[in-house]
Amino acid sequence: MRGEENKPPVIAIDGPSASGKGTVAQRVACELGFHCMDSGSLYRLVALAAQKRGVALDDEAELAKLAQHLPVQFQGGEILMDGIRVTDEIRSETCAANASKVAAFLKVRLALLKTQRAFRKPPGLVAEGRDMSSTVFPDAKLKVFLTASTEARAERRYKQLMEKGMYASISTLLQEIKERDARDIERPVAPLRQDAGASLLDTTALSIEEAVAEVIARYRALVS
Ligand code: DC
Repeated sequence: MRGEENKPPVIAIDGPSASGKGTVAQRVACELGFHCMDSGSLYRLVALAAQKRGVALDDEAELAKLAQHLPVQFQGGEILMDGIRVTDEIRSETCAANASKVAAFLKVRLALLKTQRAFRKPPGLVAEGRDMSSTVFPDAKLKVFLTASTEARAERRYKQLMEKGMYASISTLLQEIKERDARDIERPVAPLRQDAGASLLDTTALSIEEAVAEVIARYRALVS
């Protein structure tokens, strides 16, 4: 693509829920001094906005309108919707399940494309989600498909929620993760899968630090 070489570099990290990609993306961004985008939070925000405004989760047209005009502000680490802090609210398992439903609609995905691409600013961006490599940033410098076993992911999500003081049971989380995976993998629109140009990173046996170091090593190998 002409002009692509002048755009700030993107590291695209895709993978299933609770694979650790959010934490890894943030730390990689921090080490490289890059911006970071958690695209899942946008789908979660659409789901939350729908819930608050009484929009049905199967009303594609209305959901797309919400996605197009999300009343959202990102302030440092905080997310505000209609001026109210929703940083923790969007992390609930209900919101995650609803996000997975709204994310299955093509019109919602298209409505969020511009918002996602606007995060690409100098000196670079680490973007994490499901379709960063395939759709949102197909020209990403590095594409990583980050995953871990279902059990390891349920355990990580459990710890995350406990640290936030949110109650959870491992068996319920395991079931929810399996259901969400199935929905994300089987949906006809932008299904979760490893992009042809992405390299696999299985973090089941890796610490966060090791996963971060591996992503940075792969990036440096490409740009040096
Ligand atoms: O990464 P996450 O768990 O916050 O994502 C919440 C839901 O949003 C997840 O079920 C899949 C969906 N999603 C998506 O379809 N595409 C993205 N780029 C990011 C998230």
